[in-house]
Amino acid sequence: PIPNPPAPLPAGQNGLKLVNDAAHPFMPQGNHIRGPCPALNTLANHGYLPRDGVARPDQIVTAVMEGLNLGNDFAKFLAYQAFLLNGNPLTNLMSIGMKTPLTGPDPPKPALVGGLSQHGTFEGDTSMSRIDAFFGDAATFNPTRFKDFLAFATKFGVNGSYDVNAASELRFERLQDSIENNPQLVFTSPRILSAYSEAVFPTVYFVDGRLNNRQLSQEAASDFFANQHMPEDFHRQPAPVSFEVIEPLTGKLFSDHPFVPGVNHGKNNYIEMPQTPALSDFCGIYRDIALRVVPGQYPNPTGALRDALNKNLGFLFGAVSFQHNCTQVFPYGK
Ligand code: HEM
Ligand code: MG
Repeated sequence: PIPNPPAPLPAGQNGLKLVNDAAHPFMPQGNHIRGPCPALNTLANHGYLPRDGVARPDQIVTAVMEGLNLGNDFAKFLAYQAFLLNGNPLTNLMSIGMKTPLTGPDPPKPALVGGLSQHGTFEGDTSMSRIDAFFGDAATFNPTRFKDFLAFATKFGVNGSYDVNAASELRFERLQDSIENNPQLVFTSPRILSAYSEAVFPTVYFVDGRLNNRQLSQEAASDFFANQHMPEDFHRQPAPVSFEVIEPLTGKLFSDHPFVPGVNHGKNNYIEMPQTPALSDFCGIYRDIALRVVPGQYPNPTGALRDALNKNLGFLFGAVSFQHNCTQVFPYGK
């Protein structure tokens, strides 16, 4: 049986809180699975997620609410999107990194059940602290890439912090760099949305909630990204943070440097795809996930597999319907 997604944190328990606490000691990852998301890697290292790096989607929702104070709807949107692309609907388990037998027997191909490291699903090009898959391992922290991240903070952020201005310039540079150098660049829905969201996440969720000024120090950034460790005495956001905070920030990044979704056909040959959903078209991106991306891996599911996909698609829609007036779509009928 698939558990329903967790409810929001109860009032009174959804506020400012020490989260690098005695109940959640940092332990090095050892030979456990880690992947392309600095936040989930850190939450696993502190035991907010199973330390082996294999989790149910509802555990991911709980972990990001408890550890970083994501709003319930936003947590569900991220977790169920990822789960539909990278998890095993039959066992309800997902790897936060590479593909593993720990998620159980796979449904029939073309299902991938690749874990979060699976390129071209949720993981995609132009990341800030990882290289593009064309050049090698896109899941592992890359110190050269991260040096650029810090350099942009030094150059564009208030007091050398990683803030929205640093995020804006870095996001633009990462796209230009991949257009020039990655012959297989893909920058279309749904990757465009994750790329822009992830650029601003650190300015919100990685900043200590007592300060909460949207300016991430280079020390704290390095602790999360390079060490996958919460800073000593780290407090999460003082209230749950969802779409309503993140979207205006990504909107600013877009208006600073607009782009059209597209793909490279060879280096420096970016073919725009204006018929695909734009970054601002949230419902279009939801529809694209439900009607194109998920059926790409599950073209004709039957029985328990179809039931599980429908249930998880329903959870995904539940998360978007709260903030956005999208119309629900049903790739496999009602
Ligand atoms: C990147 C999944 C929550 C911060 C990623 C990537 C995945 C992922 C698959 C790789 C994308 C790529 O760069 O190619 C998830 C899922 C979440 C989640 C399933 C479920 C709730 C969070 C939260 C934060 C966060 C709460 C808060 C700071 C980041 C950042 C990156 C990233 C900063 C970009 C890394 C880079 O560009 O090098 N995430 N994430 N994520 N995630 Fe998460
Ligand atoms: Mg990537």
